[in-house]
Amino acid sequence: MKIVIIGGTGLIGSKTADRLRKHGHEVIAASPNTGVNTITGEGLAAALAGAEVVLDLSNSPSFADKDAMEFFETSGRNLLAAEKAAGVKRHIALSVVGTERLQESGYFRAKLAQEKLIKASGIPYTIVHSTQFMEFVNGIAQSGTVGDTVTLSPAYVQPIASDDVADAMTQVTLSAPVNGTIEIAGPERFRLSDLVGRYLKAKGDTRRVVADREARYFGVRLEDGSLVSDNSPRLGRITFDEWFAVAERK
Ligand SMILES: NC(=O)c1ccc[n+]([C@@H]2O[C@H](COP(=O)([O-])OP(=O)(O)OC[C@H]3O[C@@H](n4cnc5c(N)ncnc54)[C@H](OP(=O)(O)O)[C@@H]3O)[C@@H](O)[C@H]2O)c1
Repeated sequence: MKIVIIGGTGLIGSKTADRLRKHGHEVIAASPNTGVNTITGEGLAAALAGAEVVLDLSNSPSFADKDAMEFFETSGRNLLAAEKAAGVKRHIALSVVGTERLQESGYFRAKLAQEKLIKASGIPYTIVHSTQFMEFVNGIAQSGTVGDTVTLSPAYVQPIASDDVADAMTQVTLSAPVNGTIEIAGPERFRLSDLVGRYLKAKGDTRRVVADREARYFGVRLEDGSLVSDNSPRLGRITFDEWFAVAERK
């Protein structure tokens, strides 16, 4: 079948495209770099012609509150309207575990707005909520850094490797829509401050990590359970050490 991946050039998009092609499907990796833009509408109708499934694996180029909201609302509206016009049968999107609990943050308000548009669209859908990608741990460290100190919440995280996310997105793409949300997570749970400390140590980075309950995670004060799923998430198989050995020591 023909599958269009919006954001098909990104971290999860490119890995999911490879997997679906190996299953024998026709996959269009749609993004500004391949001439498809969900904000301007450029190339969208042509990309969607004859498509059965659309995966939205795009991300806002800016995480600033207003930019993220503008991106996910405009992109969501344009994309879902184009899907209706093209007769697309299923819409699949990737969002974040705990989005509804993280509404102090503009980025997560934007992700919730994206989810609401999907639910209201009338197109059969599956929304996948994922925990933080292992590839994002470096970004989390950066976000908490001032000078040589990284201040982070000790709330729990259950990071997942992008390869496990792409496997899950592939499986969801090849399954019937659930018209709801499924959750995925990594196989191990850490305290965020411990995970980042372990990551920096393994990299030989001498920054000091300080655990602080009041530290904000992209604007949000976290409770222990804010970023993890208690809904029996589907678990990835790659541990943090296994991921680090391959991804960071290349
Ligand atoms: N980071 C995490 O820990 C985490 C956890 C759970 C869920 N998520 C979600 O996972 C999703 C994918 O994240 P990712 O890290 O794989 O993203 P990424 O690597 O940053 O890739 C973003 C993709 O979006 C595309 N894009 C940007 N503007 C676009 C536009 N106007 N029209 C069409 N495509 C556009 C980019 O295209 P170009 O390459 O052409 O610029 C790129 O392919 C996001 O929605 C995010 O919320 C992330």
